[in-house]
Amino acid sequence: MVGYTVGNILKEGAAKLKGSGSPSPYLDAQVLLCHIASLSKVDIIVDRDKILEEDTSENFFRLIEERKAGKPIQYITGHQEFMGLDFYVNENVLIPRPDTEILVEKVLELLKNRDKPVIGDICTGTGAIAVSLAYYISDAFVYASDISDDALECCKRNIDRHGLGKRMKLLQGDLLGPLYEEGLEGKLDALVSNPPYISKNDMETLPISVRGFEPHLALYGGEEGLDFYIRILKDAARFLKKGGLLAFEIGYDQGCAVRKLIEDSGRFKDIMIVKDLAGLDRVVYCNMEE
Ligand SMILES: C[S@@+](CC[C@H](N)C(=O)[O-])C[C@H]1O[C@@H](n2cnc3c(N)ncnc32)[C@H](O)[C@@H]1O
Repeated sequence: MVGYTVGNILKEGAAKLKGSGSPSPYLDAQVLLCHIASLSKVDIIVDRDKILEEDTSENFFRLIEERKAGKPIQYITGHQEFMGLDFYVNENVLIPRPDTEILVEKVLELLKNRDKPVIGDICTGTGAIAVSLAYYISDAFVYASDISDDALECCKRNIDRHGLGKRMKLLQGDLLGPLYEEGLEGKLDALVSNPPYISKNDMETLPISVRGFEPHLALYGGEEGLDFYIRILKDAARFLKKGGLLAFEIGYDQGCAVRKLIEDSGRFKDIMIVKDLAGLDRVVYCNMEE
């Protein structure tokens, strides 16, 4: 029997994905074929008549079934691009989102004139924020912490992938606890975090690809989605130098609430909210009092 050609298998893969909830069936089929057959995007465009090994075709259709069941493509391929860098991802970590690049870009801008900034990223997951900051600020030292050992393992791979082991350190534990154990009180130029912030109501409306596959630990932020901000704000000021930067990613409707929490803490000034391209709240930042 003659095997599938690249062109035929892509058509059939995309047809199987149609109606399964994938917003881009043909693109998904292309990504999965490149992944399983170790082909580049160009290979599958110019080599449409290439006949595939039977094994490759079987494995391809196995991945198509996983995708059909709602599994995010990034968990299948193990890759997500973020800030122009390739990140390893698996089911123990949140897949880095383009929205989070707004936080990283703002922090890069605000730290532009600081010499050798010391940065803490809590709730680091893949390390998307921490690794990007260390990569783009060539004299920074970045501490990346998470409560999940599995997430830290993933973050370690990303630190190694980008050769940042000398300027980053992983810490394990609950929120600011590990920073305290590391003796970082009063030592940070910036404290950043994209903590879990989905409220109880919003959890129920998340698409299956998120609710069914991404870690609950990375998503749920308590009844109103604000639990982590409340807990972090209790102690954040202890770790920052005077004038130090505090920056959070926030949910689309949490700007006012998080601003109020920061005001109530009484330790920060110049509170700003940054919106995303859709005009929704995305980042809050402020400076520690001098
Ligand atoms: C929304 S994800 C953010 C991941 C990554 N920073 C990003 O922006 O893509 C939140 C992370 O917080 C971690 N986390 C949850 N509870 C925590 C806690 N009590 N202390 C520290 N990290 C926690 C989860 O394991 C998860 O990796």
